Formats: sequence, structure tokens, C-alpha cells
Amino acid sequence: PPVSMFGVPTDVGAGTRGASMGPEALRVAGLGEALRARGVDIADAGDVPGPKNPWLGPVDGYRHLDQVVAWNQGVFETTQAILRDGRMPVMLGGDHCLAIGSIAAVAAHCRREGRSLRVLWLDAHTDFNTSTITPSGNVHGMPVACLCGIGPDALTRIGGHVPAIVPSQVRQLGIRSVDQDEKRLVKEHRLDIYDMRYIDEVGMKRAMEQALQGLDRDTHLHVSFDVDILDPTIAPGTGTPIPGGVNYREAQLIMEMIADSGRLRSLDIVEVNPALDNRNATAELAVDLVESLFGKSTLMRD
Ligand code: ARG
Ligand code: MN
Ligand code: MN
Ligand code: MN
Repeated sequence: PPVSMFGVPTDVGAGTRGASMGPEALRVAGLGEALRARGVDIADAGDVPGPKNPWLGPVDGYRHLDQVVAWNQGVFETTQAILRDGRMPVMLGGDHCLAIGSIAAVAAHCRREGRSLRVLWLDAHTDFNTSTITPSGNVHGMPVACLCGIGPDALTRIGGHVPAIVPSQVRQLGIRSVDQDEKRLVKEHRLDIYDMRYIDEVGMKRAMEQALQGLDRDTHLHVSFDVDILDPTIAPGTGTPIPGGVNYREAQLIMEMIADSGRLRSLDIVEVNPALDNRNATAELAVDLVESLFGKSTLMRD
């Protein structure tokens, strides 16, 4: 389908400033032009508006909850409008709390159309914290829990259906940083996690085959791409870098295998922070990878 990208210039869910510049960094790195050159019909819908970052400490376990809710409401409405137009939403974050709004809209769309939904969460982190167990209060560490119905009403109710998704719809890949109590919670909720040790042992090809297993002809595949899945040596421009990440070839294989599945219907690109970057390397790498996600390959394939 044709694509509509939109920016969400905020870092209200993060603990480091600068992800608010992610949308422009991705545009400057040539995301629109790169996909257009591949023959993708892509429009830039501009930026979602929202409140400024007041840069305060956590209150009752949440930093900036009201602002996080306001931004996600805007993301939900924009994503829903793009899907209703029959187009593929590509959200340029912004921090990862914004996936609450985008995925809530995708889940509502799938529910309406009677399609199954698979969420592929590419990340160093499981983002399954709650206000009582979070070490930081940063809501970008909580979106998967919120989408699964665990979180404040103002966030879990955004799609109008609680929970928006269930853990069995989610596959998490690239994981290497899970907080102490968060470990108990992801185990309790049986999240399907392909962590870095698993990838080391079985290889990326097999891990991805398993993460993509069971997609059928009309499955909607949503990819939530937190750039901190990548090793910080190749993607330094992000707020919560964790050593031991996915390397360049592994990242290409992830994207190529998703493209080959033919099921990609929505995408988040989040946590690009140009203030921490080496020139615009992280956004440029993200664009390079998204070209593969949209079918760029070295040779003709059939
Ligand atoms: N687990 C940590 C926290 O909850 C880090 C979360 C990082 N999340 C992200 N989307 N970069 O504070
Ligand atoms: Mn549709
Ligand atoms: Mn994340
Ligand atoms: Mn992360």
C-alpha cells in the first residue's frame, strides 16, 4: 500500500533530551527520497502537535504522564486517519512511549477489519515496566505493558479497547536489558522474547524465522523499530544505548526477512537522538535499513 510518514517530535517519555529531533534527523537522512527512489508511493504528513517537555521528575512513578497522554492521543488519531485512508503509517519518533498510540490505532484497525495482528518489537529493552517497578519513571520503558492493559487508565484506554493487544501477539527481538522486577513481569505474562544470547546461539536467521512464524495471508505485521536494538558502535545516537547489540549484517537480515514476508503494514522508527550522534550516522543507518525493509536487495530475487 502507499505510505504516509509523520513526525512526532517529543522526548517526554525519555530520561535524556534530544529524541524530539528524531523526525527531522530521519528526514534529513533522506527517508522519503530513499523510499520514493524504490518506487514506494510515500507522502509526508508533517508533524503531530503536542505539549512541550516540562523536564520534571517522576510523580507517582511516571515522568510527564499528562504530556505522554496528550502526545499519544495525537499519534492515535493520526495513525487511525492514515489507516482509514488505506495507507501504511510510518511513525518517526520521538521516544518509544509513542508506540502506545500507534499500536493502539493499528490494533483497533485490525479488530474492525477482522485481521490478525502481529507486533515485532525490535529493541534492546522489553519496555514492560510499570509505575511501581520502573527504575526511572520514564514512560518509554512501559509501552508494551500499557498496550497489554497494564498501566494507567489514561494510557491503556487510548484505543478504546483494553487491552489493546495480548502478549501472544508480540515477538521481541534483540533484547539485552531488562530491569530486575521487569524480568518477573515478562515471564509472568509469557512474552515471546528472542534475546541476544538466543541470537548468539541459534543465529539471526533462525531467530527471525521463529519470530515471523504463523503469519497468515491477511496478518497485519507492525514493526516497532527502536534504534537501540543496534550496537552502539554503529548507532550511537540514542538515549539508552546498551552494548552487545545487533550488528550491521544481522540488522540487514532482520529487515530483508520482514520484507520477504510481505506482511509489513505499519512501522515505528523511534529513539533516534541526533544530539548524541556522530554526525547523523544513526538516522542514516536507519534509512539504509528501512530501504531493505521495503524490499531493497543486492540481487534480483524471486
Ligand atoms: N528499562 C529502562 C527504564 O525503564 C530503560 C527503558 C528504555 N526504553 C526505551 N524505549 N529506550 O527506564
Ligand atoms: Mn487495511
Ligand atoms: Mn524501546
Ligand atoms: Mn530500547
